[in-house]
Amino acid sequence: MKTRGSMSAGDVTSESAHRLANAAGERLPALELRGLALASLDAPLYVGPLHGRIVSARPRGRQPLTNSTDGFIPIARAMRRAAPPPLRPEDADRHLLYQWSVQTPKDEVAFMERAYRRRRGRKPLLLREDFCGTAYTACHWVESHPRRRALALDLDPATLEWAREHNVPPLGQAADRLDLRRSDVRRVTRPLADVACALNFSYYLFDTLAALTAYLRKVRRSLAPGGIIVLDTYGGWESQQVKEEPRKVKSPGGTFSYIWEQAEFNPIDNRTLCHIHFQFAGGTIWRRAFSYHWRLYSPAEVRDALLAAGFRHVEVYWDHEPDTEKKEDYRVTRRAENTPGWLCYVVADA
Ligand SMILES: C[S@@+](CC[C@H](N)C(=O)[O-])C[C@H]1O[C@@H](n2cnc3c(N)ncnc32)[C@H](O)[C@@H]1O
Repeated sequence: MKTRGSMSAGDVTSESAHRLANAAGERLPALELRGLALASLDAPLYVGPLHGRIVSARPRGRQPLTNSTDGFIPIARAMRRAAPPPLRPEDADRHLLYQWSVQTPKDEVAFMERAYRRRRGRKPLLLREDFCGTAYTACHWVESHPRRRALALDLDPATLEWAREHNVPPLGQAADRLDLRRSDVRRVTRPLADVACALNFSYYLFDTLAALTAYLRKVRRSLAPGGIIVLDTYGGWESQQVKEEPRKVKSPGGTFSYIWEQAEFNPIDNRTLCHIHFQFAGGTIWRRAFSYHWRLYSPAEVRDALLAAGFRHVEVYWDHEPDTEKKEDYRVTRRAENTPGWLCYVVADA
């Protein structure tokens, strides 16, 4: 069975994971399976880098096998309730693993609607999703209302192709309202959108304030009158630490581990190198399924870049929910307590 570090960096495709898994002989003895299910119940779990996102994870409480009344739940029942069967490496698809691990498109759509309504008193209809990847958010957007349309932009043809194959067909007729385009986000300014978003910190790839500001200027030109931009940021002292943070993910496809690695951080220029690894039953690991060279921007830097690009009325929505197992509770906030890891949205008017 493959273990962490045994696969070469950055070259792992789902096909190679498939081959490796097969070579490793995937079938686990029953005892081992049971051991895994017990481990997933009993071991400390790590919840979503702040709710399913790709930032630092905080440990959450144990989930005991026993309950308070009869003190015992038969293992089979506990397994059924608490953990779906392990996801087999040969069934793993890196985009699905990513979506299951770090994306919460329904919540994102709800948040963007709330932020727009608060400013404009009406429903936003056209979304521009920058750095859309598999366009998971844009797909949820067009599904959420029959008059909603979305423009989803990404540079990577393979990721867009995956989106077309997996995320678009289930939309049915709503797919007609989705414009999935291969393009650099800095090259497109039409159609004019009500909401533009760059989520999961994708804009961190602009590693100078000048580059970030130039991008934001383009986005501003792509917004309709009354349009807003929604960006997310993460921080806290743990975000600057070199570390690996595992978290169990119970997905519709089965249970697996998502590992967020902060491999490098340079305090002089705030550049960081992060990786996402996935680990499966028996220890097979898909190293560096995704890697990011980012500059860690603070909300204050993002605000300054937004203002320099001509945006106005910049507000920070801070997550006030301390329990990472619960849904985020974003509220407009001017002063917040610094914590090991935090998340917020920055919203501004064009
Ligand atoms: C971290 S993924 C973001 C996925 C998704 N937005 C999310 O919320 O998880 C970053 C994506 O940005 C794309 N990308 C990088 N530079 C780009 C650019 N200049 N224009 C458009 N897409 C870009 C990459 O191809 C990649 O799919």
